[in-house]
Amino acid sequence: MNKLKVLYVASEAAPFMATGGLGEVAGSLPKALAEKYKNKIDIRIILPLYQGIVDRSEFEFIGKTSVPLAWRQQYCGIYKTTLNDITYYFIDNEYYFKRSECYGHFDDAERFAFFSKAILYILPMIKFMPNIIHANDWQTSLVPIYLATKYFGYEGYRDIKSIITIHNIEYQGVFDLAISEDVFDLHGKEKGIIEFKGAINLLKGSLETADIISTVSESYSKEIYDDYYAHGLAEIIQKNSYKIRGILNGIDTEKYNPEDDEEIFENYSAESIQKKNLNKKNLQSLSGLPQDKDVPVIGIISRLVKHKGFDLIQSSIEEILKEKVQFIILGKGDRGYELYFKYLQESYHDKIFVRIGFDSDFAKKIYSGADLFLMPSISEPCGIAQMISSRYGTVPIVRETGGLKDSIKDASLGKGNGFTFSEQTPQALCEAVKRALKVFENKEDWEKLVETVMKVDFSWRKSAEKYFDMYSSLANIEENNNEGL
Ligand code: GLC
Repeated sequence: MNKLKVLYVASEAAPFMATGGLGEVAGSLPKALAEKYKNKIDIRIILPLYQGIVDRSEFEFIGKTSVPLAWRQQYCGIYKTTLNDITYYFIDNEYYFKRSECYGHFDDAERFAFFSKAILYILPMIKFMPNIIHANDWQTSLVPIYLATKYFGYEGYRDIKSIITIHNIEYQGVFDLAISEDVFDLHGKEKGIIEFKGAINLLKGSLETADIISTVSESYSKEIYDDYYAHGLAEIIQKNSYKIRGILNGIDTEKYNPEDDEEIFENYSAESIQKKNLNKKNLQSLSGLPQDKDVPVIGIISRLVKHKGFDLIQSSIEEILKEKVQFIILGKGDRGYELYFKYLQESYHDKIFVRIGFDSDFAKKIYSGADLFLMPSISEPCGIAQMISSRYGTVPIVRETGGLKDSIKDASLGKGNGFTFSEQTPQALCEAVKRALKVFENKEDWEKLVETVMKVDFSWRKSAEKYFDMYSSLANIEENNNEGL
């Protein structure tokens, strides 16, 4: 049987480059697919060769070419490596990618236009004409757009189907209309595809041109029909509703495994949750908080931005601090929140520890050492932290939105794997936290809950199956069409 050929294109993928959720998913979903469907799928990944990708010792140089980008001809080197039986390609161009940060440059539009153009341009060179190209977020949105415009009807490209996955619809790749011709080489009717509300909107263009639109949870796939969640794109979502799917992300359960994780103080499993206490004790000591196992520790690891629910936290935390509780907060983001938490730490130094920054080592200490994990997002396409914390037996408290709603069910009435609330009010958040603290007081009930939480399967197993089915049926449509011709 011929293997299904899928090219997974993303602006980041762990372990090579990961700045957020997209990198985690791009690093773990293809791996899960390749493992589960060894003989059925050949999934390859293509990434920009960023300066931050330092270990290139296993990379093989496979050629160079020059990619046309409107009036430019840009150097494109191609490297290749294999990891976990998956082939990774890297697009090299130092002018675009030899920079200390992946995003946030004045010419991001041009950098990712080049990347997208190069991907399609080099397919014959790498001798991989896929059945499906799976693009992710605005940075690779031009891939389905170019496939539908520049490559329309071309031999070899004609049969390639495309998928765009939205990891967060808030980030759309919006640029000045004036660069449509000069950078993207899209004119007239083609320009219309990426034009939206007087600007260029790359995500909109890919929603219009891809064969399937997927997003990272079922609830989010429904929420984005509403502009409150869709950030202006609801009408495009509604128009393309026939091709929208929602598949919940999983996590790499090998990478996040309390049984053999070397970054935590003491390994443990659902069968030895008492050992989690040692992690708690060390976390409290690292954070300069009293080492008391009877005081519940609430962890927060997040970007400190509004949509992660920080206004709700800010308006309710002092009320919660009246209880017997400790908070350990890790993250960075809006200056206002950073300052607020710093101020709070000074006023409640024996109850709160705040570290401003991203620190994956300290994050692991929180995941393993806290009792509860707070994630009251206003919107959350999927969310990964609630799954990681669950894996480490740290019980999530979440707002019922997007992937949080799909992954965490309230345990107050018996069954469930966390605590949830729906209303976007400080009262609702407080009430959910207090419910959690109540259960914590009863040691037996608490241990039962921690065990249940740890045993929930957040691996990619189920979702990889859904992706595989989606890929297969999309590729089959192709075969059927050919038969009909
Ligand atoms: C984005 C979303 C997050 C999701 C991640 C991976 O970062 O904000 O909810 O988990 O992408 O899909």
